[in-house]
Amino acid sequence: MSNAIEIKDLKKTYPNNINALKGISLNIQNNDFYGLLGPNGAGKSTTISIIVSLVKKSSGQVIINGQDIDLDHSAAKQHIGIVPQEFNFNIFEPCQQIIINQAGYYGVERHIAEQRCDQLLSEVGLMDKKHLPAGSLSGGLKRRLMIARALIHQPSILILDEPTAGVDISLRRQMWQILKEKNQNGLTIILTTHYLEEAEQLCENIGIINHGQLIENTSKTGLLAQLNMESYLLFCDPIESFPQQSPFSIQQITNNKLEATLNSNQSISELIHYLTQHQITIHRIQNKVNRLEELFVNLTEGAPI
Ligand SMILES: Nc1ncnc2c1ncn2[C@@H]1O[C@H](COP(=O)(O)OP(=O)(O)OP(=O)(O)O)[C@@H](O)[C@H]1O
Ligand SMILES: [Mg+2]
Repeated sequence: MSNAIEIKDLKKTYPNNINALKGISLNIQNNDFYGLLGPNGAGKSTTISIIVSLVKKSSGQVIINGQDIDLDHSAAKQHIGIVPQEFNFNIFEPCQQIIINQAGYYGVERHIAEQRCDQLLSEVGLMDKKHLPAGSLSGGLKRRLMIARALIHQPSILILDEPTAGVDISLRRQMWQILKEKNQNGLTIILTTHYLEEAEQLCENIGIINHGQLIENTSKTGLLAQLNMESYLLFCDPIESFPQQSPFSIQQITNNKLEATLNSNQSISELIHYLTQHQITIHRIQNKVNRLEELFVNLTEGAPI
């Protein structure tokens, strides 16, 4: 399958010398539903803003549907619809006008734009708000308006930066449904989120950014399996012989220290029993903090239910 987006060694230093991105490389396939996760300030919005040419990269390469954004800036932009983290429309303008104006920027003819606008407004459940000023919509509905606006030029890729931040659970579920349907109809979707549940519900593949680096890039199932594993450090008497074949994932760190990783079907008492049978005497066990788990606590803390 071809890549919708290829990012190579992307770096960004802001004028205040903040190294927001320290070399990110990432491929996102066509029709993927990709989730970009990471704590506040990790570099998610910076990455997205560079992809859509709102922020200038310091170095690296971004290729959208085979086109390098440095070489073909406008063509690359034509492929993408963006729903930014902050509301960025005129709140006094009616919903329909906001979408039609956007169509104009992309050169969509007015009569086509009007038809598409109605179609999109009904898809996102805003048809009855068509003539109302955007400022009169609730936060969740404003986000939906931004989705409709982002799709008016029929991009093949939709990028949403925290589309459900502060949106209540019922509106959030409705939005998930809209996005799922769009993805099933062939749209490539990339979103950033602080909600693990959202990534779990929607995403096929997940990347985690921390301090400007991509520290994880895997399938959702792979990531969930990792979160279910627990690692321990085991301090023992000097080990004379270490079993080569084992039902557990065990690594010998030093002469008297082992690291063992258990999946959700294995228990620590089974592990101790097994090691004792192999003449390994354990003195102390230390639960090793799972980096991913730690990150997720950070990500999901304070998430509204
Ligand atoms: N325009 C800017 N000028 C200077 N520094 C910036 C600018 N935008 C972002 N930064 C800094 O770059 C780093 C990455 O910020 P970014 O907005 O990309 O993070 P994020 O992962 O989107 O965070 P959040 O989850 O809070 O939205 C942060 O340290 C931030 O303070
Ligand atoms: Mg952000």
